[in-house]
Amino acid sequence: MNNKYGVKILGTGSYFPEKILTNADLVKIVETSDEWITTRTGMKERHLSAKDEPTSDIAYKASIEALKASNVKPEEIDLIIVATITPDMLTPSTACFLQTKLGIKNIPVFDLSAACSGFVYALAVAKAFIEVGLYKTILLVGSEELAKFTDWTDRNTCILFGDGAGAMVLRACNEPSDILSVYLGADGAYAGLLDLPGGGTRNPATHDTVNEKMHAIKMLGKDVFKAAVPKMVFAAEKALEFAAKKLEDIKLFIPHQANMRILEAVAKKLEISMERVFVNLHKTGNISSATTITALDEAIKTGRLVKGDLVELVVFGAGFTWGAAVIRV
Ligand code: UT7
Repeated sequence: MNNKYGVKILGTGSYFPEKILTNADLVKIVETSDEWITTRTGMKERHLSAKDEPTSDIAYKASIEALKASNVKPEEIDLIIVATITPDMLTPSTACFLQTKLGIKNIPVFDLSAACSGFVYALAVAKAFIEVGLYKTILLVGSEELAKFTDWTDRNTCILFGDGAGAMVLRACNEPSDILSVYLGADGAYAGLLDLPGGGTRNPATHDTVNEKMHAIKMLGKDVFKAAVPKMVFAAEKALEFAAKKLEDIKLFIPHQANMRILEAVAKKLEISMERVFVNLHKTGNISSATTITALDEAIKTGRLVKGDLVELVVFGAGFTWGAAVIRV
């Protein structure tokens, strides 16, 4: 199929809530240690949103930054996609709340749920919409407040998650696309290994679902870890193949920041040095769909990436879902 338009990445932005939860703070909440968390995950601290700061608030702050970096006004946007699994409410979508905060009316907006793979899934949707000429300027957001869906008595999970948001502005262009390729995959047979079981139609909210902590993320960490590494390696290779690029062409790999040991295992299997792998999980924890976009924004802001560099985003999350994208910044 011939594409009508290419996709230009105009700019990125990110926002992290002010409050920081350190490993030392976690030691006061559950039976754990800084040593265990650091050696098993690489994490040191994560940000927590305030009680009165919903997912759309941090999405708004990241979006304003991305719009400024792109020199685009809110009224120029003709579609908003928010990747999130921690929405303001089940309905309406977080994208609707974000739209109103941005002062925009009458454009389509929606949330996309693909867990930690959400941003790369959203990138694929935005790419397709722009290429066929349906929308011209798209605001893409990954925004999560996982700490509000965390069981603070479960040391297996509460040490992992944090809050944060990232955004990107994309525009149709007549040049070669900045999104060279996207590869996506999923296998719902693994749903039970990582889920948030309460509050949906399977387990509508009751006193029991609250007492049983079913409104918090549950994970069989070891099994998720084992599946994540080969799927991320496979996805990274597939997206490179689709883009007709080699590992050497990629300046920086930005994998989903779930665990330092996962990042190291993926790098080892791909035979790339950790110097080419972006890591910020020590400061952020796992922020699901917001990980790759906030990491990309940081890599651009700190000069680790310069205009024209090729980057590969590689993700894996609940579902299971996975994917990768080769992009030019
Ligand atoms: O975002 C989507 C993708 N997510 C992921 O990819 C996460 C994948 N999983 C992981 O990152 C890791 O499996 C964890 C970090 C969650 C856990 O690390 P692990 O090396 O797989 O540890 P484990 O679950 O096998 O637990 C080892 C031991 C257990 O004790 P026993 O049974 O050996 O006595 C746990 O009870 O460590 C214990 N443990 C802890 N100890 C201190 C578990 N959590 C903690 C803790 N502090 N926070």
